[in-house]
Amino acid sequence: MNRPLLSVLRGERRDPTPVWLMRQAGRYLPEYRALRAEKGGFLELVNDSAAAADVTLQPIRRFGFDGAILFSDILVIPHALGQKLEFLAGEGPRLSPALVDAALDGLQAAPERLGPVYGTVRRVAAELPPETTFLGFAGSPWTVATYMAAGEGSREQAEARRYAYRDPSAFGAIIAAIESATFDYLSKQIEAGVHAVQLFDSWAGSLSPAQYEQWVIAPTARLAAALKQRHPDTPIIGFPKGSGGKLPAYARETGVNAIGLDETVDPEWAHASLPAHIPVQGNLDPLALIAGGTALDQAADRILDAFRERPHIFNLGHGILPDTPIAHVEQLLQRVRSAG
Ligand code: CP3
Repeated sequence: MNRPLLSVLRGERRDPTPVWLMRQAGRYLPEYRALRAEKGGFLELVNDSAAAADVTLQPIRRFGFDGAILFSDILVIPHALGQKLEFLAGEGPRLSPALVDAALDGLQAAPERLGPVYGTVRRVAAELPPETTFLGFAGSPWTVATYMAAGEGSREQAEARRYAYRDPSAFGAIIAAIESATFDYLSKQIEAGVHAVQLFDSWAGSLSPAQYEQWVIAPTARLAAALKQRHPDTPIIGFPKGSGGKLPAYARETGVNAIGLDETVDPEWAHASLPAHIPVQGNLDPLALIAGGTALDQAADRILDAFRERPHIFNLGHGILPDTPIAHVEQLLQRVRSAG
């Protein structure tokens, strides 16, 4: 078995640099849009294991990425904890009741709602090319809590931040509930066939240093330790978007195996500041991918050069945008694969 991306996560340097893109299954692909229209909506797609497995594999068939990421969403955990989940066209996700208005204890947990996701994992694992690494994922407790508290995406995550200051013990109980559901969820993804998992902490960047220690680093460290104990051979990628100068502490203190970097991080600074052995993933600006041409080549080269001496997985700094031209993805892949 030779899966280049997985061997980088285990600490090896591989050339050419393995590559995948966050949100690589999605609206920029005509085959995704067609299947989503046929199934009626995003959640219908997620809950249909055969369709979700097909969507997971669409970008692998088209581009041959080194990693396939499970097609699901971070908000299936609030749904399994008992909130109602909807995606409103043009508005984004809604969770009800929002926990700023309702007690966590009042929710009726429904872990069976995650059943279709494990079905997707088993199907993809059976069909995946032998060189492709299969990535499972979940949201980190803090990022998921920001949605559970506000009931929707929120400006600067203000509702969750206010809640955490006002009542740290009740907010801590929400974090603990997410942590425990996420441990179970990721364990089951691993048992169903993913090779590694990524924790998406999209809103890590909104916290002050002490709150970051309490709500990002500590829960991530507990979750990583529990996963390591049960599944010692499964690497964990942490993606604490917007963490900036807090990244070295995150890398040292959480116990994750690899660090995902967003596009605001200077790759040379990251190489100099992060522990030498830690693999990094990232961090092309999604807008450079939309720009294409020499701007794209130069931006990609800068990242490849900075991480030349360390285990590196090429990726975007955040999800691929729906208006990204497919030809630019092909250009990027060619650049990454011919570098060195
Ligand atoms: O990366 C992948 O291809 C795997 C699938 C995946 C999705 N969401 C599918 C999706 C992953 C890893 C996610 C993570 C996710 N979901 C995050 C963390 C990463 C990030 O982007 O910050 C967050 C915050 C969410 C919550 C979420 N899901 C929002 C706010 C939205 C609406 C906004 C939007 O981009 O449409 C979604 C919907 C969503 N999740 C789509 C996809 C492909 C779009 C649904 C559609 O209209 O087809």
